Amino acid sequence: MLRPSTLLRAARPQTAARFATAARLYSSQAPQLAEVDVSKLVIQRTQTPGQLKKEEELVFGRTFTDHMLAIEWTAGKGWSAPRITPYQALSLDPATCVFHYGFSCFEGMKAYRTSSGELRLFRPEKNMDRLSTSSARIALPPFDPKAMVECISRFVALEEKFVPKKRGYSLYLRPTMIGTQPTLGVGPPGSALFFVIASPVGPYYPSGFKAVSLEATSKFVRAWPGGTGDKKLGGNYAPCIVPQQEAAKRGFQQNLWLFGEEGYVTEVGTMNLFTCWINKDGVKEIVTAPLDGTILEGVTRDSILALAREFLTKEGWIVSERKYTIKEMAEAADEGRLLEAFGAGTAAVVSPLRRIAWDGGVGGTQRDINIPLQKGKEAGPIAERIWKWMEERQYGDVETSWSVHVPPHQD
Ligand SMILES: Cc1ncc(COP(=O)(O)O)c(C=O)c1O
Repeated sequence: MLRPSTLLRAARPQTAARFATAARLYSSQAPQLAEVDVSKLVIQRTQTPGQLKKEEELVFGRTFTDHMLAIEWTAGKGWSAPRITPYQALSLDPATCVFHYGFSCFEGMKAYRTSSGELRLFRPEKNMDRLSTSSARIALPPFDPKAMVECISRFVALEEKFVPKKRGYSLYLRPTMIGTQPTLGVGPPGSALFFVIASPVGPYYPSGFKAVSLEATSKFVRAWPGGTGDKKLGGNYAPCIVPQQEAAKRGFQQNLWLFGEEGYVTEVGTMNLFTCWINKDGVKEIVTAPLDGTILEGVTRDSILALAREFLTKEGWIVSERKYTIKEMAEAADEGRLLEAFGAGTAAVVSPLRRIAWDGGVGGTQRDINIPLQKGKEAGPIAERIWKWMEERQYGDVETSWSVHVPPHQD
């Protein structure tokens, strides 16, 4: 059981709070607070090494690798030496602030194996930058994203045998940061734990795309201006389960999250959303909601925007990050201008949509928005092409700066 020396030691809350604030404001003048230092990495290998399961037996997030990476932080000392230990349970006092006040943020990223057998991370600095803004929002400690990427790279190298060889498979990584101060006072945690666990995963669509139906949700709101929807906080996810269960009861796979009386289209389930249409000016447009604080800044979203700007603009498309409404989607469908729509995220890369059920907004009537798919297929042509461009870069078929080499582990 991981019972870090400092994890159960209560820092005095007032002192801890002052330290935490000072650490953030004056980090350059507080050299006594240690930074994350990969050169201090300590590796304790498991005595009971496991094996990668058969590919067809892999279920998302069910089985984990032999080890985990953990780095503790205290307001008094800063970051301790990174440790790779056998995968194990955490031992936390029941008063620990993560259980009561939701001091938890996380990331989802993947390690891929190239056709020559090398390991790669895909844009890992984006995930660590995002984790750093998530943690700052909930008063968890700052860290150097580059140093965290290095620690993760060393962890992935050690777990090399768990990165599947088959195309479409990968090692899902779950970096997490929690507040570990064991006191009930509501305040900035005086101690924290960063850890990473890893789970080998298969492709989201093992036998080809399967387009999904959504329920446009206005009864529940996922995120709002000034809220935390643009951060990857644990607290953003639990409240989305009941809306998802309700949508599922009515036969829909996911919620389409709308915002405001205008019915602005924001995200789908836990993915960003892209819509392709001929806009009112008669121009082919691929559009996604802007980063206005209510949208998670998806790494896939950012990558798709870059790829669309590189390739699709040459074919006459415009690529937009702007607000648009569900009413505009319905009008485009009625006028035959809606071309396709898909979710975008690390798990599925792209997830094509076939139908959105919408209550018609204020004073409207329930209706379906049907989204075209290619004849005999479960995806539109743009979703298919984008998925391919992404995969080629994730697995290093096409070399880009996005694909970061993981040096092999040296004993
Ligand atoms: C709410 C939400 N939106 C979008 C995304 C997609 O982000 P990414 O492409 O970084 O996986 C995720 C997944 O992390 C998410 O949870």
